[in-house]
Amino acid sequence: MLTKSLTLCCLLALVLPTLAEVGWWRTAQFYQIYPRSFKDSDGDGVGDLNGITQQLAYLKEIGTTATWLSPIFTSPMADFGYDVADFYDIDPLFGNMEDFEKLLERAKQLDIKIILDFVPNHSSDECDWFIRSAAGEEEYKDFYVWHTGKVVNGIRQPPTNWISVFRGSQWTWHEGRQAYYLHQFLAKQPDLNYRNPKVVEAMKDVLRFWLRKGVYGFRIDAVPHVFEVAPDSNGDWPDEPRNEYVSDPEDYSYLDHIYTTNQPETIDLVYQFRQVIEEIDQELGGDDRVLLTEAYAPLDVLMQYYGNSTHNGSQIPFNFELLSNINFNSDAYHYSELLHNWLDNMPADKVANWVLGNHDQSRIGTRLGADRIDATNMLLLTLPGISVNYQGEEIGMEDVWISWEDTVDPQACQSNQQEFERLTRDPVRTPFQWSDEEFAGFTNGSSTWLPVSDKYKLVNVKRERGIALSHLNIYKQLRALRDEPTLKQGDVTVNAIGPNVLAFKRSLAGHKSYITVININDDVESVNLDSVFTELSSQLSYVVVNDKSARRKNDVTYANSVLLMPKEAIVLSTI
Ligand code: GLC
Ligand code: MG
Repeated sequence: MLTKSLTLCCLLALVLPTLAEVGWWRTAQFYQIYPRSFKDSDGDGVGDLNGITQQLAYLKEIGTTATWLSPIFTSPMADFGYDVADFYDIDPLFGNMEDFEKLLERAKQLDIKIILDFVPNHSSDECDWFIRSAAGEEEYKDFYVWHTGKVVNGIRQPPTNWISVFRGSQWTWHEGRQAYYLHQFLAKQPDLNYRNPKVVEAMKDVLRFWLRKGVYGFRIDAVPHVFEVAPDSNGDWPDEPRNEYVSDPEDYSYLDHIYTTNQPETIDLVYQFRQVIEEIDQELGGDDRVLLTEAYAPLDVLMQYYGNSTHNGSQIPFNFELLSNINFNSDAYHYSELLHNWLDNMPADKVANWVLGNHDQSRIGTRLGADRIDATNMLLLTLPGISVNYQGEEIGMEDVWISWEDTVDPQACQSNQQEFERLTRDPVRTPFQWSDEEFAGFTNGSSTWLPVSDKYKLVNVKRERGIALSHLNIYKQLRALRDEPTLKQGDVTVNAIGPNVLAFKRSLAGHKSYITVININDDVESVNLDSVFTELSSQLSYVVVNDKSARRKNDVTYANSVLLMPKEAIVLSTI
């Protein structure tokens, strides 16, 4: 009998892989590190790999499952690493391969998975591939997108009117090759030619290399830009139509990008990258490897990224619904609609993800107000699925104003003193605030590549550890709550209760229900949760409160009359 059940157990173990192996990412907490600004170990004022390794324990402390690092590869840093010169090596500014291996080792000890940023759309113009392509070497000549241009009235012109994301023409003339090359971003970021199968293969090899080194996947950069429309039989492309509401002909939004973004081939490429991931899963075994895809694209396109009945796609197509659409004045109906947009359109069996910040977007505390930071972290951590946090949001860092003279972000530098504030991403990339020591404990050096926030004495990890209802401690409490079965596997019902209150209920048969209730604005509100949710107990218990609450953890309230202070954000549970 005993042997029989043992055999059964063994058999089951064989056929049923553990949750950790196949599904660790389904309820994971992802944390984005911007390596230049996380922690500087060598005093040069720029963060580095050894700095990250030193601070991995902090990621553990806040319950991180996996961290994705913005690019760490060899780069002239024209776009701070998003211009890769060698896809196979580490930039000396960040360290070397040995440092990276040490980072992987430490991460393994702490059970944190390392995810890398993969930039498929372009390389640096200093990449060996581009240099050889420009020289017309047979193997590389079609690695990039080249065209000799048009001649109008005897004057040479770019082949199309296409405008770069960072302003101006997408085409730059190359003297050596006597042709224009395409770049959707900076001239120093030439676009790779995905209509050349050799390029696709070369980039898949890059994925394989890092997976075999021990990373658990990639955040794929700027996916919608990877393909341009196929050229016609003469090798020409069409111009893009104008957006009449924009008058500045250098601005990216001057044109409607129907030929340079979201081409149908892109979806298939994502599926192909997923195949590579699965091929390595087969080869190396162990826990699943994952793809996170960065695409600012229409919802129906994003849903295709997930995969279809014949192909697997990206497990985590970033959900930018909130990040792109919420503003200071958004009401509860708007929040609710945006949450529904993702939940209601996602294919069955897929997992939702929630992204509220990254190194390209203004921080929550600045965009929505510092008194809404805990509320948004509550959304991020109590909605079903995956949370993706940008470094510093957990302690409530805010944008740092940086003058035109000190601005270094190319997106802003390519513009002018009048426009730069709208475009600059420097304010969200300032050094991480570790403590109240000089330079917020980010460096022992005598300067930092971007200024440290002057709020660092109040907003830093060390101080917030000691304050019961600090942003950091509320974040940690929410994180701990995610271990509850209801938060891991439960359903969700989302409702706006009037314009000011957003509420959602997580429920799972046989377990407590949890209700997140957020008062978005400054009126005192009394809400009847029974009017929007079924099966609540008549009394509910406070599980997490923010510093606006008049109540404490473990207090109880009647479900039909929950009193909310201005900007109060709470999690309640059934009793
Ligand atoms: C992505 C990155 C951004 C970068 C751009 C070009 O949008 O997030 O930082 O500038 O791609 O690589
Ligand atoms: Mg350094």
